[in-house]
Amino acid sequence: MEKVVYFIEGDGIGPEVWASARPVLDAAVKKAYGDSNKLVWKELLAGEKGVRETGENLPEATLTALKGAELAMKGPLGTPVGKGFRSLNVTLRQMFDLYACIRPIKYFPGIESPVKHPERVDMVIFRENTEDVYAGIEWAAGTPEAKKVVAFLRDEMGAKIADTAAVGIKPMTEKGCKRLARRAVKFAIDQKRPVVTLMHKGNIMKFTEGGFRAWGYEMAANEFPDQVMTEGQAAEGARKPVTINDRIADAMFQEVLIRPEKYSVVATTNLNGDYISDALAAQVGGLGLAPGVNMSDTLAFFEATHGTAPTIAGKDMANPGSLLLSGAMLLEHVGWFEAANLIHAAVSKTIAARKVTIDLASQIDGAKAVGCREFGEILGANL
Ligand code: NAI
Repeated sequence: MEKVVYFIEGDGIGPEVWASARPVLDAAVKKAYGDSNKLVWKELLAGEKGVRETGENLPEATLTALKGAELAMKGPLGTPVGKGFRSLNVTLRQMFDLYACIRPIKYFPGIESPVKHPERVDMVIFRENTEDVYAGIEWAAGTPEAKKVVAFLRDEMGAKIADTAAVGIKPMTEKGCKRLARRAVKFAIDQKRPVVTLMHKGNIMKFTEGGFRAWGYEMAANEFPDQVMTEGQAAEGARKPVTINDRIADAMFQEVLIRPEKYSVVATTNLNGDYISDALAAQVGGLGLAPGVNMSDTLAFFEATHGTAPTIAGKDMANPGSLLLSGAMLLEHVGWFEAANLIHAAVSKTIAARKVTIDLASQIDGAKAVGCREFGEILGANL
């Protein structure tokens, strides 16, 4: 079986991490399936390379190809600070309605972690990507717009609110919350993960965050009655493959430190998801290795989660691990688990052998730093 993967090289360290990671992905597929499965790579231009070759940072041909694509993968894209330049990442997310941001968090033995038992963490975070305070609807304090909204809220809605307030809006819809929760539940069922936790702040924000919780439970009960049970039903003796529960966001931060082994798939709103993804990645010492994907109902767009690392670009120092592990997620997404497992095992083996890129070497006792290219070669040899 062949799978077409559209790829964007990206800016800064993008070309280096691709040159190092892509051969490892191809080699893993070959090792697992011989010639019967193959990734077919098709490059799309974006960012600086797009500007160089077409004059556009997001050429029409790239958008057209992505419209019909199922699988895509990207290196980091720079966002020059300045007026009139929107982040390409945000643009892509909005254009293609990539509503679920998915981040697996897992520990690789040998890496320094700030906690005693990082190996107990094995979670996949599903973060809603399009709603919540991230919708970007806000007005600066003292502006005529803010004053108008404040006046409406106070005079017509009876809200107590100061004239001088900056105001932001937190829109959350049933459709937006349910489609995110649905993805998380389907993933748990497909990948045989036992628990889905709805993480929210519904005790305080009753209709937005509380809505997320209620819609999540409702969706699971209506759409997956045979596969999913609540914690309460489990306590009464029900037996189904997946348990759905919910935790208030602040308690969840305590839980993932104290009892991480109890959690498996976490579905959450945009802002909570932003916080918990990075906190968990740091907990396993793995910000530099963290992979991710943004998904719509038709397109899965895998990405390295780091930026363009301009200060080390072109110096053969970058760690290709985040891109490589994003590729392993892609392999899992298409059901090629054997190839993905080979990659995870190769990363573990390479870290255990302590020959790693400099960012990891600084986190591993007695490790020797190797370049981006050599690291890729070692990973390939360790498959
Ligand atoms: P960054 O992730 O590029 O760098 C942060 C630090 O981590 C730097 O010290 C860098 O050298 C190091 N680093 C990052 N990736 C590394 C790797 N693979 N191997 C070794 N070291 C690595 O974040 P920063 O500096 O905030 O952003 C730089 C540019 O990247 C900006 O234009 C930003 O907008 C863009 N960016 C793009 C992202 C994306 O495309 N998904 C995500 C984050 C930032």
